[in-house]
Amino acid sequence: MKKTVLVTGANKGIGFGIAKHLGLNGWNVIIGARNQERAEKAISELSSSGICVSGWINIELSNLESIGQAAREVNDKFPDLSLLVNNAGIPGDMSVDGLHTEICDIKQTIEVNFIGTFALTKALIPLLTRNTGRIVNVTVPSEISPYWHPLGYVASKAAQNAMMGVMAMEFQQQEKPLEIFSVHPGPTTTDLNGNMCLPGFHDIDTVGQKMAELINDGKTHQGEFIELYPIVKED
Ligand SMILES: NC(=O)c1ccc[n+]([C@@H]2O[C@H](COP(=O)([O-])OP(=O)(O)OC[C@H]3O[C@@H](n4cnc5c(N)ncnc54)[C@H](OP(=O)(O)O)[C@@H]3O)[C@@H](O)[C@H]2O)c1
Repeated sequence: MKKTVLVTGANKGIGFGIAKHLGLNGWNVIIGARNQERAEKAISELSSSGICVSGWINIELSNLESIGQAAREVNDKFPDLSLLVNNAGIPGDMSVDGLHTEICDIKQTIEVNFIGTFALTKALIPLLTRNTGRIVNVTVPSEISPYWHPLGYVASKAAQNAMMGVMAMEFQQQEKPLEIFSVHPGPTTTDLNGNMCLPGFHDIDTVGQKMAELINDGKTHQGEFIELYPIVKED
């Protein structure tokens, strides 16, 4: 029987690549998106690649009401959901150094990347637990890189990584039939970074395929932080 996955932010970028390659590997895919037009465009592209798209869910991660509504809709329409890929995210202002970052930018980035992601995960945990499911977060390392450290973004992702670690520990302690782990896809050419394409960057197809292989590897990854590509040290 096909398994069902919800990928947030699946209308473009890495989320689209993950949805595509999970779909090609036999998953029923639910697209998380913020508006109908972008969702339908993604669904039409995926369907033309032969992928079974079960539908789309409107999720605005900066709005708790939208998240609650999305979770209710998933419960009603997709009771067999067994995988949540928390992929949707925003970069925040990457053009300024830490001390010049506006408070409103920090708040907004944390609201989407951490609070919204936490709220959606929390709302879907009862369903995912019933289905012995998994949660996969798409993220960056918590360690501060000397080369690149936009404050709002790294703070929001560090909080998201803490959520993953805490939940994994509690799932184990409470013997919940549920798994959570995080994946750093590495630099990927997307709108998030202005479609940067430097040496070491990958495209969304390559990353989506590798993510799907990892998710389908049949292994347990509870609490792991997985680097999809080895980190190359800069001189
Ligand atoms: N690109 C990289 O190099 C890289 C590296 C490491 C980790 N990541 C992570 O990978 C994930 C995907 O990023 P990407 O590079 O693929 O970026 P992207 O192309 O900009 O895609 C981001 C996705 O998130 C959605 N989104 C943004 N704000 C949202 C909100 N408030 N509520 C719901 N959905 C929202 C976007 O929807 P709209 O189309 O409606 O805006 C879009 O579908 C992010 O979590 C990012 O931090 C990226």
